Amino acid sequence: MLPSVLPIEADHVPVLADEVLAALSPAPGDTVVDCTFGSGGHSQLLLGRLQGDGKLIAVDRDPTVTPYFERLRRGSGAKMRLLHGEFSVVLAQLASNGVRADAILLDLGVSSMQLDRPERGFSYAADAPLDMRMDPSAALSAREVVNESGEWELGDIFRRYGEERYARPIARAIIRRRAKQPFERSGDLVATIKEAIPAPARFGEGHPAKRVFQALRIEVNDELGALERALPAALEMLRPHGRLAVISFHSLEDRIVKRFLRESEHGCTCPPDFPRCACGATPLLRAVPRRAIRPGAAEIARNSRSASARLRVAVKVG
Ligand SMILES: C[S@@+](CC[C@H](N)C(=O)[O-])C[C@H]1O[C@@H](n2cnc3c(N)ncnc32)[C@H](O)[C@@H]1O
Repeated sequence: MLPSVLPIEADHVPVLADEVLAALSPAPGDTVVDCTFGSGGHSQLLLGRLQGDGKLIAVDRDPTVTPYFERLRRGSGAKMRLLHGEFSVVLAQLASNGVRADAILLDLGVSSMQLDRPERGFSYAADAPLDMRMDPSAALSAREVVNESGEWELGDIFRRYGEERYARPIARAIIRRRAKQPFERSGDLVATIKEAIPAPARFGEGHPAKRVFQALRIEVNDELGALERALPAALEMLRPHGRLAVISFHSLEDRIVKRFLRESEHGCTCPPDFPRCACGATPLLRAVPRRAIRPGAAEIARNSRSASARLRVAVKVG
């Protein structure tokens, strides 16, 4: 059941808020899509620019954002609706229904509310059920991934999505431990990771389980697949001169965004095995600015979670 009052955790602090606002610069009458509503920090700022005249479509796959959405709706005169679902699916549906947007925001990853609620299982710092689903009704949780994937598969997930140096020894240790008893809690996984890595690495930079937890979260929520599918759907949904802003938090995400923007700037949509361009290649997007925007020292000091953020912005060619 959804909480009827706002959860007690502090709201998520919107990252690169001024930069997002400047990049998307919504005007009264615009339609804005916030694909990652969270606690609505960015949405609130964007709504301010709509001045009650325009529409905000909020999307989130986590139903626990509903009280935050209701709070924002009560305090705003604008037309707003919340769509629960995976943003690539929602954007594709909206686009195919002919809905068009002037500004689209994707602020990727998990929110502070998800990270700070131990029972969601995202954090290696608290012992909790192994879960990590952004959408609690999704079929796959971290429990299944950890207990049912093969050794190579696990090693691959940790190396690819976590850039974990000790991916293989950790995968091997997980297989050994679960043969005796399946993993149920994050604390058991943290203990197994610590035992599997050389002693000096246990005291290195950052928590020893940080990379494995990031990798599992990405796998459980198909975060990179969702992003790959969402970008073309967002492009389709944008009106000419519409603006797209994407905030990523690690290089795997940023690489996908950067490649998509580069390809869309070039414009060719031919399959990669075509010997020559046959599509008449016209640029579809223009990245503005060309480089990613990073938070300044003052923002990082205020909000350490912003440290790895990169904002990329593009305008649809008219
Ligand atoms: C970093 S938070 C966004 C915070 C928000 N900008 C704010 O200011 O409060 C990311 C949110 O996006 C949601 N999310 C992440 N990936 C998603 C996806 N593929 N589809 C729908 N929602 C997603 C998460 O559930 C989370 O609530």
